[in-house]
Amino acid sequence: MKNIPIDSSIVNEVIDKLNIKDFGRATIREVVAIAGEVEKKSGVEFIRMEMGVPGLPPAKVGVNAEIQALQNGIASIYPVIDGLPELKYEASRFVKAFIDLNISPECCVPVTGSMQGTYTSFLVAGQCNPGKDTILFIDPGFPVQKQQILVMGYKYESFDVYNYRGEKLKAILEDYLKKGNIAAIIYSNPNNPAWFCLKEEELKIIGDLATRYDTIILEDLAYFAMDFRKDLGMSFQPPFQSSVGKYTDNYLLLISGSKVFSYAGQRIGIVAMSDKLYHRKYDGLTTRYGSGTFGSVFIHRALYALSSGTGHSAQYALAAMFKAASDGTFRFIDYVKVYQKNDTR
Ligand SMILES: Cc1ncc(COP(=O)(O)O)c(C=O)c1O
Repeated sequence: MKNIPIDSSIVNEVIDKLNIKDFGRATIREVVAIAGEVEKKSGVEFIRMEMGVPGLPPAKVGVNAEIQALQNGIASIYPVIDGLPELKYEASRFVKAFIDLNISPECCVPVTGSMQGTYTSFLVAGQCNPGKDTILFIDPGFPVQKQQILVMGYKYESFDVYNYRGEKLKAILEDYLKKGNIAAIIYSNPNNPAWFCLKEEELKIIGDLATRYDTIILEDLAYFAMDFRKDLGMSFQPPFQSSVGKYTDNYLLLISGSKVFSYAGQRIGIVAMSDKLYHRKYDGLTTRYGSGTFGSVFIHRALYALSSGTGHSAQYALAAMFKAASDGTFRFIDYVKVYQKNDTR
């Protein structure tokens, strides 16, 4: 390692001290810890992009709703495992307002951040069909999601989409899907960390193949509406956030409160799955649980086992933020323009 821009001995010492064998495989949290230590020891200030937290204040409408809910005493009450009815309703409305997809409130489920959303989705998707035990990552992706696969003992495969843009995406996806072992495919769009957006024709390819090969698409929308080349912040009117949901019924959307509403600390987001997927029965789920659809297993088996629901007051906050955004009284996109410096392509 050359001394650009920091003395390499400082960096090596910090990496050794944290006992990280292979820096290339370090998690984001480890990278954050290394950066913090190196910053302290070298006195050189780092530009921090790794956690996607640009230091924005949380959306006020959410904070106020949450304070109000706490003052009303909800902290002592277990939340309904399916989610607060107001939140489910507003999530469904938000999806219609900004993606132009019809997803019933029943199929919108709160989670403790998209992290729990992906964990639960991987878990259930991998149990649907006995032969389908592998998750396919369209990289670059969010590294901790691969760690989730490791934690649950699943398998994954991945390829870098950089070399397979446009029509080329079809052939590479089919190479994987033809093997018959892909339970689900995940990608983030707009993409973190590479900050590009999949084109409509690419989403169509993914959607068509998901239907043909019966695999489930996990669309990670953590950076929702942040394709700043267009104004995606107008409710119930085009242009809309692009989604694979226009091209297949085998999909679920991961909508995080962390970036769009700067609400990362409260660990809140929703998984919105297509009505068809929610109500679909799978042999693997019937064998394992005796009964249930994808949606009911997701909520009443997996989420129940993981956390028995999502923080009550944060659900009130998200409901209020979704409502204000859909009503057009809160232009959330104006508050997150700082992400624009990432230069969406
Ligand atoms: C692409 C992507 N997906 C998911 C997440 C996690 O979202 P949450 O805070 O809702 O768990 C992040 C956070 O940085 C992210 O960048």
